[in-house]
Amino acid sequence: MHFSEAMKTRRAVKHFDPEHSIPNDILEEFWGIVRETPSSFNIQHWRIVNVEDLELRSKIKEAAWGQAQITDASLCFVLCGDTKAWEKSPERYWASAPEEVKNTLVPMIGDFYTGKPKLQRDEVMRSCGILAQSMMLAATSLGYQSCPMIGFDAEAVGKLIELPADHAVGLILTIGKGTKQAHPKGGYMPIEEILFSNHF
Ligand SMILES: Cc1cc2nc3c(=O)[nH]c(=O)nc-3n(C[C@H](O)[C@H](O)[C@H](O)COP(=O)(O)O)c2cc1C
Repeated sequence: MHFSEAMKTRRAVKHFDPEHSIPNDILEEFWGIVRETPSSFNIQHWRIVNVEDLELRSKIKEAAWGQAQITDASLCFVLCGDTKAWEKSPERYWASAPEEVKNTLVPMIGDFYTGKPKLQRDEVMRSCGILAQSMMLAATSLGYQSCPMIGFDAEAVGKLIELPADHAVGLILTIGKGTKQAHPKGGYMPIEEILFSNHF
């Protein structure tokens, strides 16, 4: 599928076939695409919880105002991030790079994030958003539907998935075989209202 077709046909689908399971070869292709997602300094600090336990899914659904996607979709991921990944052996993020690149970039990571908790958390949210878009477009290109979700109690979901203290929850993303079309599109803002030249 061409990129523009994936962009134009991806929709937030709310109804999924609960019986469908995604074949392993498709999943392998999916992760092969998704791992190319960019992150600042390549720290890849997203942490993805694949909620396979149906009982756990039901509890997460309760914390998400009963949204059926959580239990009905083939896959339910809680996209999280490690706010401290930047200080956890950062040389591993550049393991394949030439020595001079590694020696320049790795020390910059610590310099950039040290003492900036807001930035560390912002980065997790930024990266979860970019990751989610990769996952949604990958799913679309492989013939699947998805729904990104922020309509849940993040603290309650964090407890349910035993989120480590230095991690944060970004969003939930469900993926599966859609059984009903998405709502008609809400419409798009005029480009003039969102695009500025040089200054606001
Ligand atoms: C960050 C984010 C959170 C969202 N949360 C929910 C949600 O909790 N439940 C839901 O049904 N849809 C949710 N949506 C879907 C949006 O309503 C939908 O993407 C938007 O209306 C545009 O429609 P489209 O995705 O079909 O183009 C969310 C979308 C995004 C990007």
